[in-house]
Amino acid sequence: MEERKAAVYGLFDALKAYMALKYKIVTFGCQMNLADSGILASVLERHGHRAVKSEKEADLIILNTCSVRKKAETRVFGRLSELSRLKKEDGRKKIAVVGCMAQRLAGRLPSLVPYVDIILGPDRLFDLPAYLENGSERPLVRTEFGCEFDPDILPVRENRYAAFITISRGCDNYCTYCIVPYVRGPERNIAVSSILKRVRSLVDDGAVEITFLGQNVNAYHDGSINFPQLLARVAHETEVKRIRFMTSHPRDMSEELIELIGQEPKMMPHVHLPLQSGSDRILQRMGRNYTSEHYLSLIKKLRQAAPDIAITTDLIVGFPSESEKEYEMTLEAVRTVQFDSSFMFRYSPREGTGAADYEDDVPEEEKIRRLKKLIHLQKEIAFKKNQEEVGKIRSVLVDGVSRRNVAELKGKTGRNKTILFKADQGHIGAIKSVEVTSADSWTLHGKLMERE
Ligand code: SAH
Ligand code: SF4
Ligand code: F3S
Repeated sequence: MEERKAAVYGLFDALKAYMALKYKIVTFGCQMNLADSGILASVLERHGHRAVKSEKEADLIILNTCSVRKKAETRVFGRLSELSRLKKEDGRKKIAVVGCMAQRLAGRLPSLVPYVDIILGPDRLFDLPAYLENGSERPLVRTEFGCEFDPDILPVRENRYAAFITISRGCDNYCTYCIVPYVRGPERNIAVSSILKRVRSLVDDGAVEITFLGQNVNAYHDGSINFPQLLARVAHETEVKRIRFMTSHPRDMSEELIELIGQEPKMMPHVHLPLQSGSDRILQRMGRNYTSEHYLSLIKKLRQAAPDIAITTDLIVGFPSESEKEYEMTLEAVRTVQFDSSFMFRYSPREGTGAADYEDDVPEEEKIRRLKKLIHLQKEIAFKKNQEEVGKIRSVLVDGVSRRNVAELKGKTGRNKTILFKADQGHIGAIKSVEVTSADSWTLHGKLMERE
C-alpha cells in the first residue's frame, strides 16, 4: 500500500515538474497590487512553478496592472508591446494580464492585444495555477468578483522584515474621479481571526513590521470589531513589533483610532491621509464627504495625540471646473498642514466614473503648471521637515543594504522615512537607534548609536 502511495506521489511530482513553468511577475500600481503579487507568487510556487529574474527567461510573464490614471495604463501597453516582440521570437511564451486594468478592459483586450493568453481581474488572479492546468480557451478571460484565500499562504516578499497584509478588498466610496470601486469591486473585509493568523505566521517568518492595507481601512469591521479594535488586538495578541496602515479616509478617521495611535507604542507615528483638494466645492464634487475644516481638525487631533507624527497625503490638481482660486486653496492647505510628503497627480478622466460626465475643462498645460508649482512647494516643505530630523535619535527598522552604496545599510524610521547609515550587516532585521546627521528632501543620513 505504502509503496503504491509512494509511486503515485512520485508520478505526481514528475507531472508537476513537467508542467512547471518559469514565471516572472511585473507589478504596476499601488501596494495592494504588490501584496497581491506576493500572494500570487506564493500560490504559483506551491504549484511547482519557479520565479526567474527576466521576462526573457520566463515561460509565463504576468503583468499585474493598474488603471487609476491613463498614464498607468499607457505604461502597461508599452510593456505589452515589448512583450509581443519576445513572443514573436518564442511562440511558447504565455502572457497573462491580471489586476485592475485587466478587469476594466477585459472585453477590449483580446482585440487590442491578441497575443495575450490570459486576462484575470484582481479577484481571479489567485486562481491562475488552476487556469494554467485546466484552461484551453484562448484567451482565457475571468473577471468575477469574490475571492477567498487560505490565511496560511504567506506572500513571497522582497522585504523579509516589513510585510503587508490586505485587510479589506474593494471600495464602496465611489469618489467621482476614481475607477477603483469599479475594478476592485465592493468592499469586503477579511475576518479578524484570519488577520491574526497571518500576522503570527509572518512574524514567525521574520516580519518585524506589518502594514495593513485597504482602500479605506478606517471603515474596516468584522462583526462588532472595528478598525482600532483590530489594531489593538494585533498589538496585544501577537509578537509583531511595529504596526502601520494605509489608506485612511478623512471622513471615517475616528477619535478611537487617533487615541490608539497616541497611546499604543506598537503603532508607528505616521498617517497617510489623502486630502485631494483644499477647496470645499471641489471636495464635494469629488464626493469625498468632508470639508477642509474637518480635515484640519483631524490633523490637529492627530498632532495632539502624537506630537511627532508624520502626515502624508494625496492631492489632485485640475479636477473639472477647478478655478485658479480653488487650486490656490490646495496650496494653502499644503502650507498649513506641512505634509511630510505627498503624492500629487493631474486629474485624469476615467470612463464610467461620476466625474467623467463633467467637462474636463482645465487645459492640460494648465494642469501641468499647477502640478509643477505644487510639487515645488511640497519639495520645499519636505526638505524643511527632513532638516528638522537632523540631530534627533530615531528608532530604525534596519531592512537591508543601501541600493546606492553597499557599505551602507538602509532602514525606516517610525515616521516612515528612509535612512541610510554605515554599519555592519549583522544589524539587518533589528530595530536600532540611529542619530540623524543630515538630510535632503527624500532621504535621511545617520549614524548608528553604539549604545542603545
Ligand atoms: N483609496 C485611496 C487611494 C486610491 S487611488 C484613498 O481613498 O485615498 C490613489 C490616489 O490616486 C488617490 O488618492 C487620488 O489622489 C489619485 N487618483 C485616483 N483617481 C485619479 C484620477 N482619475 N486622476 C488623478 N488622480 C487620481
Ligand atoms: Fe477611490 Fe475614493 Fe475608494 Fe479611495 S476611497 S479607492 S479614492 S473611491
Ligand atoms: Fe491600486 Fe491602481 Fe488598482 S492604484 S487598486 S492598482 S487601479
